[in-house]
Amino acid sequence: MSMKPVFARRTVLAAAAALAATAFPALAQETVKIGVILPMTGPSASTGKQAEAAAKLWIQQNGATVAGKKVELIIKDDTGAPDVTKRLAQELVVNDKVNVLLGFGLTPLALAVAPIATQAKIPQIVTAAATAIITEQSPFIVRTSFTLPQATVPMAQWSAKNGIKKVVTLVSDYGPGIDAEKAFKDEFTKGGGEVVAELRVPLRNPDFAPFLQRVKDASPDAVFVFVPSGFGSAFMKQFAERGLTQAGIKLIATGDVTDDDVLNELGDSALGVVNTHHYSASHDSPENKAFVEAFKKANNFRPNFMAVGAYDGMQLVYKALEKTKGNADGQALLDAMKGMSWTSVRGPVQIDPETRDIIQNIYVRKVEKVGGELFNQEFATIEKVKDPVKAAKKQ
Ligand code: PHB
Repeated sequence: MSMKPVFARRTVLAAAAALAATAFPALAQETVKIGVILPMTGPSASTGKQAEAAAKLWIQQNGATVAGKKVELIIKDDTGAPDVTKRLAQELVVNDKVNVLLGFGLTPLALAVAPIATQAKIPQIVTAAATAIITEQSPFIVRTSFTLPQATVPMAQWSAKNGIKKVVTLVSDYGPGIDAEKAFKDEFTKGGGEVVAELRVPLRNPDFAPFLQRVKDASPDAVFVFVPSGFGSAFMKQFAERGLTQAGIKLIATGDVTDDDVLNELGDSALGVVNTHHYSASHDSPENKAFVEAFKKANNFRPNFMAVGAYDGMQLVYKALEKTKGNADGQALLDAMKGMSWTSVRGPVQIDPETRDIIQNIYVRKVEKVGGELFNQEFATIEKVKDPVKAAKKQ
């Protein structure tokens, strides 16, 4: 027998593959590349550490193949600087030809990449940054984290209903802080409360002491605080030193302050702090118990909400690829993601098909000691919360 027919068949197959590659480049590509950009160093390094660990755990648990495609993560450190985030995104799109961009630890970092996602027509999955306007900056942005107004409104409602009448707000002076400040004031005032002062603290190298002194001087019932994940311990240390609790001023916050990554370092001054957020490591569900156990086994530290944003970001990419049967074209993936719902370790979630934000439960929690460790213990649930800013615009 001659080798000829075999060669001929191979040539035909190769030609067909080449044709497919030109006609359907995304279909023909066998590897789906996910460009992950995170702050792995700098003041938000804890976000990078948590998100990277979660993305890797997702692959470890679910395999590196989905719908017949191999999935490859390309992880880059933007050090928390928007110009670096932008350059890395450009390189990932142009040189590595990534199909998806994922991560974005702070609002300015997510915003820097929005025009690139629009131009490249590939999904930009925001797993961390949480200023409400982010998803409006590109039709290709999908968010698996949360928005500050989404987490804050339930805190304002709870406060107004639980005997708190006079509040000072204290937030980091940039997008999410300003969102939190406004959402709190609007909702708390509606509920009959009064915001007597609104304090904004610089994001970089914050010195909270003079601001805490102003809070003390105003003697409100409570101070409502937002600082981004990773900054909670610096805040809590100064809060404890200033003796606000002894002066009868309650601390209320979004869960960014009592973040699971640092909660154990905050010490007993954090005990009893009521806060609202979408994820607690002690969330009571079989999915979360399995996740926390596997995460701790792989990393020796506890997952926080930044880990969950990235874990669900990966889950969303996998689900979208299953739905498109492996077609990794940007528009096809984006369309598949809109309206997608699943049981997250945080509870039930859905990508809002109109806003591309995440619809999720927000939990009211209290910091308590359980088995010698501090946890945000959930005690009330507000179900299926949409970003209130976009919901209000629609009306
Ligand atoms: C943000 O910059 O959007 C951000 C970062 C950390 C948080 C929340 C929001 O905990």
